[in-house]
Amino acid sequence: MRIRQLIFKIPIKYLPHKMFNLFKFLVFKNFSIEKLSYKPLSMDIEPTTGCNFRCTMCQVSEPNFKALNMTIETFQNLIEQNLQLIKVKLQGMGEPFVNKNFFEMIKICDDYGVFVETITNGSLLNDKIIDQIINSKSIYRVSVSIDGASKEVFEKIRVKSNFENVIKNIKNLSKKNISNKNKLSLRAMVLLQKSNYHQLEEIVKLCKEVGFHELEVQVQLTGWGKDEWENKNRDSDIHFDFNKKSNIQLILDKYNSNIFKTKIVEENILSKDNKCSYPWHNPYVSANGSIVSCCMVADPKVNNYGNINKEGFNHIWNSRDYQDLRKSINNHTLKDFCKNCYKENRE
Ligand SMILES: C[S@@+](CC[C@H](N)C(=O)[O-])C[C@H]1O[C@@H](n2cnc3c(N)ncnc32)[C@H](O)[C@@H]1O
Ligand code: SF4
Ligand code: SF4
Repeated sequence: MRIRQLIFKIPIKYLPHKMFNLFKFLVFKNFSIEKLSYKPLSMDIEPTTGCNFRCTMCQVSEPNFKALNMTIETFQNLIEQNLQLIKVKLQGMGEPFVNKNFFEMIKICDDYGVFVETITNGSLLNDKIIDQIINSKSIYRVSVSIDGASKEVFEKIRVKSNFENVIKNIKNLSKKNISNKNKLSLRAMVLLQKSNYHQLEEIVKLCKEVGFHELEVQVQLTGWGKDEWENKNRDSDIHFDFNKKSNIQLILDKYNSNIFKTKIVEENILSKDNKCSYPWHNPYVSANGSIVSCCMVADPKVNNYGNINKEGFNHIWNSRDYQDLRKSINNHTLKDFCKNCYKENRE
């Protein structure tokens, strides 16, 4: 469903905040200014760092990674400090439905007219959760990570998963969604790496067959701004280049249609002429309320611009450190954690 259609569902009292901020964003977004007169239109919010999987490329699988749920107070505080928000992505380093307060968060988004996309591993989508998703006002898209078309490939990457269970849940979600006039957009997120690259065409076919409306292929693993993960994930990376892009595009084009849209996502394949834009429009809020640069890092131990419960979001958004991050991107004097998003540093 389009954001433009959704705007008519925003409670009237929050509309001026959102529209005025959107207007400022549209006027200033192309100036690359470091001190911003507008606030973000969207955020990634981490409901939890707890997860029932241990995927090989994900920092959640570190033995000492701590599971923490965002409290409902932190969530409410964040939304109240950001009445300008149009949409949020409820996802982070963890599985969103592990947080038992997930649907309380959705209720807050319903009340404040904030639209929600969530990204899930698909394992916890039982009938009750699916019905709650479909009956919410604010959830407009559910994305599910699909990293293989067979049990063997899928479960080797998504450690502790059960392929059949995830596929069964997606079919059920799709069936219920169809009975509800296809209110939700269902998107498959495919993270390509050496161990599933050979299966891409089968993955695309499977995703179409089980009822997704869209499919996005990510082609580069992040290393979460940490040397040990950069090294580990570089070994698993497909080393995306012109030839790989053509091969992938050929497969995606074969299955692309009006009812099943496919695309390659290159958001962390950057260059001097194609700079990162995250610090200008989409912060990452970790489960404890700390603001982190983006989902490519997603860990307040790597960078932390302040906590919304202490400093408050308005202060953080234009703090010296946040402006300094924007400046480093503008001047191409990149912070260490940014370097691997830029092509020149990966060759
Ligand atoms: C961190 S997960 C959180 C949501 C949920 N647990 C899931 O797996 O979909 C969000 C997305 O990040 C992807 N991801 C995991 N590790 C990654 C990495 N090293 N680089 C890029 N994306 C990664 C996952 O495949 C998933 O699509
Ligand atoms: S990618 Fe998602 S499912 Fe896999 S370990 Fe990370 S958070 Fe959990
Ligand atoms: S360049 Fe930096 S801020 Fe941008 S996505 Fe990469 S790590 Fe995040």
